[in-house]
Formats: sequence, structure tokens, C-alpha cells
Amino acid sequence: MSTYKDNDYKLEVHDLKKSFSEHLIFEDFTFRLKKGEILAVLGDSGSGKSTLIQCISFLERPDTGKVRIGDLSIDLTNSNEEEIGILIDQIRLKIGVVFQDFNLWPHMSVMNNLIEAPIQVNKEKKKNAKKRALEFLKEFGLEDKENVKPNSLSGGQKQRVAIIRALMMNPEVMLFDEPTSALDPNMVGRVVNIIKKLSDKDITIIVATHEIPFARQVADKVMYIADKKIVEKGYVEILDNPKTDKLKKFLNI
Ligand SMILES: Nc1ncnc2c1ncn2[C@@H]1O[C@H](COP(=O)(O)OP(=O)(O)OP(=O)(O)O)[C@@H](O)[C@H]1O
Ligand SMILES: [Mg+2]
Repeated sequence: MSTYKDNDYKLEVHDLKKSFSEHLIFEDFTFRLKKGEILAVLGDSGSGKSTLIQCISFLERPDTGKVRIGDLSIDLTNSNEEEIGILIDQIRLKIGVVFQDFNLWPHMSVMNNLIEAPIQVNKEKKKNAKKRALEFLKEFGLEDKENVKPNSLSGGQKQRVAIIRALMMNPEVMLFDEPTSALDPNMVGRVVNIIKKLSDKDITIIVATHEIPFARQVADKVMYIADKKIVEKGYVEILDNPKTDKLKKFLNI
């Protein structure tokens, strides 16, 4: 890891390794992102994209390695359990995750989906949380959906509610798992615009996807993973000039 003082980089992942029991999923994963940068993680089905998202958000525990967000750093190899537990609780507050199936709470209205965590976790006043939620709903074209249940929303609307729910916690980093897979193709441009807008707000973003055109449109940087390793990483232009046979094959060139 370069250094914790290196504020240029908002997110650093160093030598991250993950297995499920004795089955290795990935190793030697090292990369870093500046504030507001958008990274697309590309790879075939089963290559470990979702697992990486879950490890960075500590929904799954990586085996070894380090993750730093801002001034908070978790060293999975050299810290004791108690320390790691406290740090995981803290780092989770900096990260918003938007899942493939959105994971909205079905029994709650859209508004209650949005204000639950700010009130319960951040102890925000209900009135204030509601005011912020309404502003976001307006910004995302959902001002008339405040009182409905998630199951009456379209896929794209559910996704926007899930994004707002993450934004309500003021995340420094947002992770998206396959944000275009549940949507029809003409929604992709809209998702690109939303993600770019979040990056304009200085949120650092990782998007897991297997859709190359979407990655090209949305990303500043890309990382191609296969056979448990990072095969190539760099600015999005590497998709026009792949160096490895593996990436060439993935891109069909
Ligand atoms: N909880 C788990 N327990 C055991 N193995 C798992 C678990 N989650 C994922 N895996 C395995 O890890 C590997 C990577 O899965 P992952 O879901 O991260 O891939 P992916 O790149 O997101 O695929 P897709 O494009 O299909 O979403 C797969 O072989 C999968 O079976
Ligand atoms: Mg996946």
C-alpha cells in the first residue's frame, strides 16, 4: 500500500485474497481509485465480480490483504479480530452498495426504505431525513412514489430508490453490482448518466458488469479479471488496445 497519507487516492485495495472454504476465488487484487473516479470491473460469469464487491463492502470477509477508504484502513492480515470488527463497522458507513436485485424492504413504503437507516444508524431526526429523501426523489424523478411499496415500481424505479437509499447515508464510495442487468436496454443510458452524476458529487464508484459497451460508456478505468487474477487494468482506453490474449478474447478482437 503506498501510504495512508496519500490523499490523492480515495480507495486502495492491496493484495486482496478471497476463498470460500478451500476454493480460491481471487488473489493478488491490487488497485486504487481517486475521488470521483469510476472503475468498471469486467469479467465472465463466475469470475468473482460480485465477490469482490462483497469483500470491499465487508459483507464477505476477505482472507488477507488491505482495504483503505479515506483515512480508514483495514489490514486483514496484521490486525487483531476485535480491531478488525470495529473497523468493519466504521468502513461500512462510508460505502453504499446497490445490489443486482436492489434488496429493497418489500413491506415498507419507498419513504420508509429511504429514512430507516439514517434514523436508526445515524440517529438523524425523522423530519430532516424525510426532507432529504424528498429532495432526492424529486432529483431522480420519483416525487410521486413516496408512499408506494417497492413491488409496485418498475425495475428502473426500484434501482433509483436503491441508489437514493445508499445516498441517504452520504457514502464516500458506491459499489454497483450489474446495474444494467435488470433493466431493458434503453435504460442503460439513463444509468450511465446517474452514475456519472454521482461521480460529479465526488463519490468514488466501482461497477461490476459483464457488458462491455456499458463499461466503455460509464468508466474512467477498467479492470478485467479472469482465472482468479487481475489480467489487465488501466484507463478505459485499454479496451481499444488490449495487451493480453485473454482480454482480446473477452472483447472478441
Ligand atoms: N457464498 C458463496 N459460497 C461459496 N462459493 C461462492 C459463494 N459466492 C460465490 N461463490 C463462488 O465464487 C465464484 C465467483 O462468483 P461471483 O458471484 O463473484 O461471480 P460473478 O463474476 O459475479 O458472476 P456473474 O457475472 O454470474 O454475476 C463462483 O464460482 C461462485 O460459485
Ligand atoms: Mg455477479
